[in-house]
Amino acid sequence: MANMTEEIKQRRTFAIISHPDAGKTTLTEKFLLYGGAIQLAGTVKGKKHSKHAVSDWMEIEKQRGISVTSSVMQFHYEGYCINILDTPGHEDFSEDTYRTLMAADSAVMVIDASKGVERQTEKLFKVCLLRDIPIFTFINKMDRESRNPFDLLDEIEQKLGIKTYPMNWPIGSGRDFKGVYDRHKKEIIAFEATGGAREVASTQVELNDARLDELIGTELHQTLADDIELLDGASYEFDENLIRHAQLSPVFFGSALTNFGVEPFLESFLKLTSPPLPRKSDQGEIDAFDKDFSAFVFKIQANMNKAHRDRIAFLRICSGQFQKGMEVYHMQGGKKIKLSQPQQLMAQEREIINEAYAGDIIGVFDPGIFSIGDTLCMPNHKFCYEGIPTFAPEHFMRITPADTMKRKQFIKGTTQIANEGAIQIFQPYGAGMEEVIVGAVGALQFEVLEYRLKNEYNVDIRMEPLPYQHIRWIDNEEIDPNALKLTSDTKRIQDVRGKRLLLFVSEWNINWALEHNEGLKLSEFSRG
Ligand code: G4P
Repeated sequence: MANMTEEIKQRRTFAIISHPDAGKTTLTEKFLLYGGAIQLAGTVKGKKHSKHAVSDWMEIEKQRGISVTSSVMQFHYEGYCINILDTPGHEDFSEDTYRTLMAADSAVMVIDASKGVERQTEKLFKVCLLRDIPIFTFINKMDRESRNPFDLLDEIEQKLGIKTYPMNWPIGSGRDFKGVYDRHKKEIIAFEATGGAREVASTQVELNDARLDELIGTELHQTLADDIELLDGASYEFDENLIRHAQLSPVFFGSALTNFGVEPFLESFLKLTSPPLPRKSDQGEIDAFDKDFSAFVFKIQANMNKAHRDRIAFLRICSGQFQKGMEVYHMQGGKKIKLSQPQQLMAQEREIINEAYAGDIIGVFDPGIFSIGDTLCMPNHKFCYEGIPTFAPEHFMRITPADTMKRKQFIKGTTQIANEGAIQIFQPYGAGMEEVIVGAVGALQFEVLEYRLKNEYNVDIRMEPLPYQHIRWIDNEEIDPNALKLTSDTKRIQDVRGKRLLLFVSEWNINWALEHNEGLKLSEFSRG
């Protein structure tokens, strides 16, 4: 067992979030380089010149330069075993980000120093806060003209509602970027862009060293001394407990592209984060070091590889050790199963694995039995992890196949894509699948749906936007939706599990329904 405990102690599992283009891919790549997991930059997910033809629908990512899916990468560094969960940068996919965050023990937020907190980062961040996990900030692109660092911190605090603690402080930016001052070590790490190669060498000098005037110039030396004095006097105290509960974010300045500040960031980050945290279940908290294996499904993805037409369920292992071929209990399915083809994903490569530990993410072949949020555990130690709530969709479309002969394929495709959690499908209350209403959290998801139906299922569709903006689940089991008094523009629908819902065009109509139907209970989430 000692071995298992040691393995789990080494695990660090985090999600990386950012607005598109802030430098998430570049930073991830540099982490992997340090871990020796890749030999050359540019191999993770070159968006515009990818050699990894992963799956066709990733074409959307390439065309639009955004990442639609999240992937998982594992690497080793200085005795740690690190799992990085990549998340889609676009706010339309924030539900996917949320699910990915469910599988993480901390988050790294990458911000472009010239742009600051962008609207999309704001939304992703709110999703992050729901999880109460530590959030680390990497302010990237300091080799370009950046905004004033005090303003950047102020903006993070104002817009995101989290306190900040700068771990290092930049000296100049853009052409004048000279490096950073490490506030704990009280020393300077100098940035030296060498020739056109954009490589970096770092030298360490103390703040009061006379050589500093020479190294960064008298003016920047003075600014730095003033900034540090101000920071030491006015910034929040370093407090690990506040960091642990997402109330204080350690902030690092650097430049992923030129490799500056990445390694110090990784080192501090690893020290400040903890091994896998305990998780809530219906039997109380389950400790990661518990000897019994347990995991939950946080993501399902079909057709990642068109040649195989497979469906993979991603599991976050929450306790114990996983061994290939072991028999586990699927709580929601109510039976014992063997997990076939357990695999780990390294960038876009897959590798069959023999064992994995709490903190790790593995992909298993899914014959169509898993749903998001499902728990897997040992047959002699049964419990269910807390479910993952479904976000209320905000956009609705009526969709039909352009060719009525393709109806079967159309139903199969939309149902499978809905099972992955990318979209939600509904039908008019009491009707069959002759009319399909699709709800999505972000409008871009309709584009992905259309693209995937065409490419993976060979079905062209017609989409008709619907005027609804709000969806509510009817909580009262006994109420017959047809007996409800509703405004004529309110629609009665049901989801795939037969749960009854209402679609409203405005907030006003929701209130009208509540006022005219005594005892009616409506909720914004489906509780699984
Ligand atoms: P993302 O995953 O968050 O969307 O961002 P990504 O890493 O793809 O970076 C977006 C762009 O910003 C890329 O340039 C990348 O090279 C650049 N970049 C990342 N980090 C830094 C940095 O520290 N300094 C500077 N100056 N640039 C940085 P691109 O031209 O859009 O793409 P590419 O053609 O270089 O791949």
